Formats: sequence, structure tokens, C-alpha cells
Amino acid sequence: MFAPWSESVASDIIDRHRSREGPLLPILHALQAAFGCIPRPALPFVARALNLTRAEVHGVVSFYHDFREEPAGRQVLKLCRAEACQSMGAEALARQILDHFGVDWGATTADGRLTIEATYCLGLCACAPAALLDGEPLGRLTPNLLQEFVP
Ligand code: FES
Repeated sequence: MFAPWSESVASDIIDRHRSREGPLLPILHALQAAFGCIPRPALPFVARALNLTRAEVHGVVSFYHDFREEPAGRQVLKLCRAEACQSMGAEALARQILDHFGVDWGATTADGRLTIEATYCLGLCACAPAALLDGEPLGRLTPNLLQEFVP
């Protein structure tokens, strides 16, 4: 269970990491581990603490796909959209899966069950189309195979 946004929790996290070289990414990862996402009020808070602009922090958060603005669903499916998977029909498969769950990229189903995100090469190209479900690799993905894991 993730904590609700709290300046004091964020402050502790920042204090723990601010002396590291390049503290921004470790702080953002730790914030996401604590809150399940990078809460919007965290951006100016982190910027102030590290003497950065809010735009700089936002730029980093939006650059990395793994940072979320909202907590993820109970399961997270990352579908590969890179070249090898594309050549094996990943885009059409992804569209089928997104339509089946009624969500778009990066969104969570209304019941909070599943978040579907894009990823770009998992190193599983030989098993394309590939995906990660809660960090576990799935190769030669089909909607039928996915149903075994997300009924
Ligand atoms: S391109 Fe999809 S796993 Fe490499």
C-alpha cells in the first residue's frame, strides 16, 4: 500500500539521497516507491530542495516512461513497441489488448486492476511480441496467452 502525499515523507526521502552524486533520479525513484507515483506537489518540492527549476524536474519525470503521475493498477503490463516486436505484429496485438481492457497507453482500467504501458525493447526480441507482466517476461504474446495471467 502506498502512502498519500506528505511533505515530511518527501523531505525524509530527499534528505536520504541529496548528498549522492546526481541525486534527482534516486530521489524520484524513492518517491515513486513511497507514493506509487510522482505526486504533482512533489515537483516544486523536489525542485526547491535541489535548486532546480520545476520545468527541469518535470522534464526528467516526463522523459522516463517508468515514472507515473498516478499510482498504477494492481497489475502492470508493459507491451514492447520496438522494432522486432513491431515486425511480429505487436502494434495490432497491442491495439487488441488495449481495446479489450478499454484503456489507452499508460492508463489503468476503471476497476484499478490493470495498467498497460509501452516499453521499448525488453531484450526478448527472439520471443517477439514480448511483454512484462508485473516484471515477469511473457514471450510470443497473444491475447489468449495474456488471458491466462490476467483473466
Ligand atoms: S523489440 Fe521487443 S523485446 Fe526487443
